[in-house]
Amino acid sequence: MNQVTLDFNGYTITTDKRLMKVSDIHRWLSEESYWCKGIPYSVFKTSFDNSFCIGAIIDDKQIGFAKLITDYATFGYLADVFVETEHRGKGISKKMMEVLLGLDWVKSLRAIRLATSDAHGLYRQFGFTDCRNPEKIMEITRTDIYKSDL
Ligand SMILES: CC(C)(COP(=O)(O)OP(=O)(O)OC[C@H]1O[C@@H](n2cnc3c(N)ncnc32)[C@H](O)[C@@H]1OP(=O)(O)O)[C@@H](O)C(=O)NCCC(=O)NCCS
Repeated sequence: MNQVTLDFNGYTITTDKRLMKVSDIHRWLSEESYWCKGIPYSVFKTSFDNSFCIGAIIDDKQIGFAKLITDYATFGYLADVFVETEHRGKGISKKMMEVLLGLDWVKSLRAIRLATSDAHGLYRQFGFTDCRNPEKIMEITRTDIYKSDL
């Protein structure tokens, strides 16, 4: 699969995992996210290895990330989207979404889903809508699964 790497106002936006800083991403998710605090490094690394990822890097530090958990053909689940606090408000997450969702194979997926507490306005700009038939969607959610690792 072809990887995309481009400059965005001095930030390197890339889908190339070889350029990404896995420990920076894991640190933010395990310490600062509201959805997977305490996630063990090995669990995140397996998830990273098996997902399509995009990141934002500056000064050799990874300050932005998103991953699409996907079969590369029919379905994707967008997750772990973040930009470090001091780099927010500069359009970095929008650039990551534009690049990721603009890839031909991503545009061919039958469905892409995500969950967010308050960033609906970000994702609406890229075509996401409220769930049309929420009564058809079911889930198993283990909210506290990483708590013992804190
Ligand atoms: C959400 C987040 C990734 C946005 O990153 P960012 O690079 O600062 O965002 P951008 O500068 O690209 O702009 C985001 C756009 O979405 C809008 N938006 C809507 N909801 C938002 C929210 N909760 N947080 C930030 N922006 C939001 C902004 O107003 C902005 O719109 P604009 O087109 O008028 O500029 C970042 O604030 C973050 O990491 N937050 C904590 C983690 C998080 O909530 N991740 C999303 C989980 S689903």
